Amino acid sequence: MNVPLPASTERIVLIGFMGAGKSTVGAMLAAQLGWPFVDLDSSVAATAGKPVPQILADHGEPHFRQLESQHLAATLAQPVPLVLALGGGAIEADENRKLLAAAEATAVLYLEAPLETLLARCEVQQGRPNAVARPLIHEAAQRFAERASLYQQTGTAVPTESLPAEDVVQDILRLLQMEAAT
Ligand code: S3P
Repeated sequence: MNVPLPASTERIVLIGFMGAGKSTVGAMLAAQLGWPFVDLDSSVAATAGKPVPQILADHGEPHFRQLESQHLAATLAQPVPLVLALGGGAIEADENRKLLAAAEATAVLYLEAPLETLLARCEVQQGRPNAVARPLIHEAAQRFAERASLYQQTGTAVPTESLPAEDVVQDILRLLQMEAAT
């Protein structure tokens, strides 16, 4: 299924699995466009006063998912323009996918890569062991299989395999027919 892109984009939401490059690409894209950038995991962590792995360890995944949904709704209510990077599991909840589908002037983009590439990227991204930085990584294969069709249904796929983040940013600007401001 193809997810339509808005005629005019005022908000870009990046979705995809762990290691897809959502935060890196999102920050670079925002810098190029001169738009604010919000990383949903960071905003949940800032409000909770602890990093996401600690929220998961202390309160469990259902509690984290609640915070994630609340922050998504609040962030989508913020003024545009905005670039927003979601955590890998944010598209699992129906309510979150509905919010994204209803958001006006919003391009939801799925940063896509094969599981092996994503896992390899997670290995090099972290200063800490994966199991600490991404507690759900041990279930990666199962979660990836469960989510693959949700990512496809929710966003327009942007291939990222073997591409550096700079190239993904340029591909996104071309796809949305947008010019960099810087
Ligand atoms: C998760 C991905 C993480 C973070 C949390 C859960 C997931 O974000 O939200 O650990 O369920 O895939 P990244 O995709 O930025 O690693």
